[in-house]
Amino acid sequence: MTQPSTTANSVSKITRVGKTDAVIRTVETGDFSLAVETWKTAFGFTDEERWKKFAFEVSDYAVGAFIDDYPHALATVIMFDANFNGCTIKCGGIAGVACSPPMRKKGLVRAVLKEILDRLNEQKVEISALWPFSYPFYEKMGYSVTDLQYEVTQKIDAIATVGDSSKFKPVKLDDYETLMPIHQRWSKKYNLSLERTSQRWQRQLTRPERHFVLYLHEDGYMLWNLQDPEKRTLEVVEWAYLTEQAFHDGLALIKNCGQLAFDNAKWVMSDLDPLLRLGVSYPPAKINVRHGMMTRVVNTEAFFNNTGLQEQSIEICDPMEISGSARVEGDRRPGPGEVIQVATGFINPSGHVPEALYKAAANAKTFSIEQY
Ligand SMILES: CC(C)(COP(=O)(O)OP(=O)(O)OC[C@H]1O[C@@H](n2cnc3c(N)ncnc32)[C@H](O)[C@@H]1OP(=O)(O)O)[C@@H](O)C(=O)NCCC(=O)NCCS
Repeated sequence: MTQPSTTANSVSKITRVGKTDAVIRTVETGDFSLAVETWKTAFGFTDEERWKKFAFEVSDYAVGAFIDDYPHALATVIMFDANFNGCTIKCGGIAGVACSPPMRKKGLVRAVLKEILDRLNEQKVEISALWPFSYPFYEKMGYSVTDLQYEVTQKIDAIATVGDSSKFKPVKLDDYETLMPIHQRWSKKYNLSLERTSQRWQRQLTRPERHFVLYLHEDGYMLWNLQDPEKRTLEVVEWAYLTEQAFHDGLALIKNCGQLAFDNAKWVMSDLDPLLRLGVSYPPAKINVRHGMMTRVVNTEAFFNNTGLQEQSIEICDPMEISGSARVEGDRRPGPGEVIQVATGFINPSGHVPEALYKAAANAKTFSIEQY
């Protein structure tokens, strides 16, 4: 585990919860056996070795709320490089958010996230992001949804006959690094996409609940999961296509699977146009529009200065009091997630946000690729 570097990180903070004091501090290796109990009950996932790896190798650090030395609430931080408005900025990815059942709804997770955001702010980290279990829960912490994704389920027989499957070649799991340059080109195309290190590739490809096969194209790649397919549906976990031709070649590859093993295929797109341009199929594809990541500004100054948005810099109000002070009656300042939504053109500015910010960073589509 990389130990956080600021002085605040080594200091424990005390938070009052009802009649008890909780100590908010970094989770150390000696806390692990208790921490894993909290994670297990929250996520129902009991593989201790994997939790250990997650907490002390995959994550940069974990913060806990301790009562009598028991870590009742936890969250971890994974630092990413994020692409935003043509710039590379730092993103504190939040994961493993959990509270032990007896101590829920007492503000412990909120206190842990406040501490993490404080640390990120001190380190001048521009943004933070997470995949939520509940959107309202994280909205209270200043995060907003920043992209939509299209999950397509298509009967394989109905997929248009286009492209050339032989443009893809199978890649052994151990040779995943050959996919990395494509992933980099792919993530550079999108706002708020996160770069993936070699360590994260290994983590993604060794999930126990999935059995991956990899295919590489000169302008794309696909990751398929063959484990426990639901309703004879091939799950394309990740499909990078940098050209429309690579998308067509991928459809041809999927189509070749539609015999013994699978009837349907499922994949995710950032934008439906390449599919719609192929015309109507029968039966039609089922499209499920789903929320992507939630994001928020952390260090306001670093965010505006390091993303080419100095001219659009505005004051932010923040329920966590990190990027600005909390909202007061009649407040016209936007929230830390709203600023990103407006700058990327994800939502129209409401009356109080300056027009100049609207679409100021909308040169690329917003799409969150990384799952964590
Ligand atoms: C979700 C979870 C982390 C919340 O932890 P917690 O310590 O109870 O949360 P807090 O008490 O700090 O709650 C903060 C705020 O969210 C609200 N809240 C708590 N649980 C909530 C829930 N399940 N849904 C929506 N809001 C919730 C609280 O009422 C509180 O609001 P307030 O500030 O207006 O009073 C905890 O229930 C848990 O571990 N669940 C299982 C694992 C999980 O889903 N983790 C999230 C992965 S993204």
